[in-house]
Amino acid sequence: MNASKDMVISGFKIPKDTHIMANFWAIDNDPNLWENPSEFRPQRFLSEDLKTFKKLEHLIPFSYGKRSCPGEGLGVVEVFLYLSSLLQKYDIKANHKTDQKLEYEFHFSITAKHNPNGNTNRGIDHKL
Ligand code: HEM
Repeated sequence: MNASKDMVISGFKIPKDTHIMANFWAIDNDPNLWENPSEFRPQRFLSEDLKTFKKLEHLIPFSYGKRSCPGEGLGVVEVFLYLSSLLQKYDIKANHKTDQKLEYEFHFSITAKHNPNGNTNRGIDHKL
């Protein structure tokens, strides 16, 4: 979205027409919201007795606001059916030998949807 007028938010000057994007990575990795955010601990999304899902306000895989995912309801059902079918058929175990720390490289990019030349044009890509 674009700023409709010059404004100041939390001390930051935002000039009119500035393109503004929410930083979901910061929300997903905020230690004030998540205990040890980089730790793989699926049970953080479950109730104490591990029987029901917690609906966490800061869990936003379908984005937020007017352009959030209209397929959220279908997506949740699809993922549930897909995973529960797999878990019924297979016994899945973690391979602790490959338990490596995740590393990231941040980019801000825009990629062409259709490429008439057929080459691998990656569009505009700024490494941060
Ligand atoms: C687990 C499954 C899904 C996840 C995690 C997901 C996630 C998302 C996210 C994060 C966005 C926002 C993208 C952005 O801001 O650029 C989005 C947009 C969108 N999603 Fe999904 N989605 C899922 C399933 C679906 C399904 C099943 C449909 C349709 C049947 C769908 C249709 C759309 C559409 C049309 C948009 C664009 C909305 C707009 O720009 O106004 N999604 N989705």
